[in-house]
Amino acid sequence: MNVLVIGGGIIGLSIARELRLSGITKIRVIENSTAGTQASWAAAGMLAPNAEAEKAGAFYNFCAASNAIYADFVRRLAEESGVDVDYRKCGTIEVALSDDEAASLSAKIEQQRSQGFKLEAMDSGGILSLEPNVSQSVVCGVHYPDDGYIDNRKLLEALTVYLRLNGIDIEDHLVESLIVEGDRITGAIASNRTYDADVTILATGAWSSLIKIGVRPLPFNVKPIKGQMSIFAHPSLNLRKVVIAQGAYLTPRDDGRILVGATVEDVGFDRRIDDDAISGLKTAARRTMPMLERIEPVETWCGFRPFAGDGLPIIGEINGLKDLFIATAHFRNGILLAPLTARIIADKIVRDIESPFIRAFRPQRFLQNSGASYR
Ligand code: GLY
Repeated sequence: MNVLVIGGGIIGLSIARELRLSGITKIRVIENSTAGTQASWAAAGMLAPNAEAEKAGAFYNFCAASNAIYADFVRRLAEESGVDVDYRKCGTIEVALSDDEAASLSAKIEQQRSQGFKLEAMDSGGILSLEPNVSQSVVCGVHYPDDGYIDNRKLLEALTVYLRLNGIDIEDHLVESLIVEGDRITGAIASNRTYDADVTILATGAWSSLIKIGVRPLPFNVKPIKGQMSIFAHPSLNLRKVVIAQGAYLTPRDDGRILVGATVEDVGFDRRIDDDAISGLKTAARRTMPMLERIEPVETWCGFRPFAGDGLPIIGEINGLKDLFIATAHFRNGILLAPLTARIIADKIVRDIESPFIRAFRPQRFLQNSGASYR
């Protein structure tokens, strides 16, 4: 079987690896830039299925299940690639720094608790003992012990090394369209060249809707949602936990750096960094962690989260089109969901096992009639 993976972000690279581990030998990845330099590079690497969840259900279960296999994914990848990846299941805390924030955080805690989430509500003393870097004015907070972070840039490096060691080419081309022959997709056209494939996987994140099926658009729309971020670096910094506060989240790295994110902007592919947005993030970060007052960010950047209309990932086949698999629209959770997305796609392609998560997130939900065929 000859597989073409379109998209060299965390999702495409993880799928290529999982297919290789499942015995597929002919795999090619096409990416319209250097692999792993877009949203997957721009992310903070939060692994926060609990802290970021709004409600129980299929999406929460998918996030929690991917989080549960993360340690094994990282350990195996480090062995396979020889690249050490900074991964910590260090827990996330969300803090309230005013009475109003405490009231809305308490409502969130009650809601999550009633749905069985694993969390520990804390008073200010509890929060400060877990994370002494947080402002002394903290009113209360909540600890999610199963959450954590990964250094996503190191993870991308490990995946690209794995692919290289296993003879999987990553080619730099712009894919314009998928090739349709009858009811099958037989590859793609990129940079005026034809790439034949027995199976094609579309993992093109925020750029997915720019690719056509023949001459027709995809049956769903994915748009970019910009996130601007910054990073603080200073020898005195030592954050133990991922911290979420009003207006910013702070994600540590093992070398002491702290990533501060992120804006959520519906402005298309606008790569400009806006001083006001960065200043807002700095203010929120300094209010949360006062020692950042003396430190300026050393770098700012932005990335584009892939967003579908309902905010959920799109994974699986399109009725009426054989040999095409979609894995996109992971929005705020691409890093978290990569290991399990890769596994369920490989299970479907190689073993014909359909995960309930594919049933929950199929592209079919965007066709007017859920039984309809694309053709
Ligand atoms: N998951 C964090 C973000 O999308 O900003």
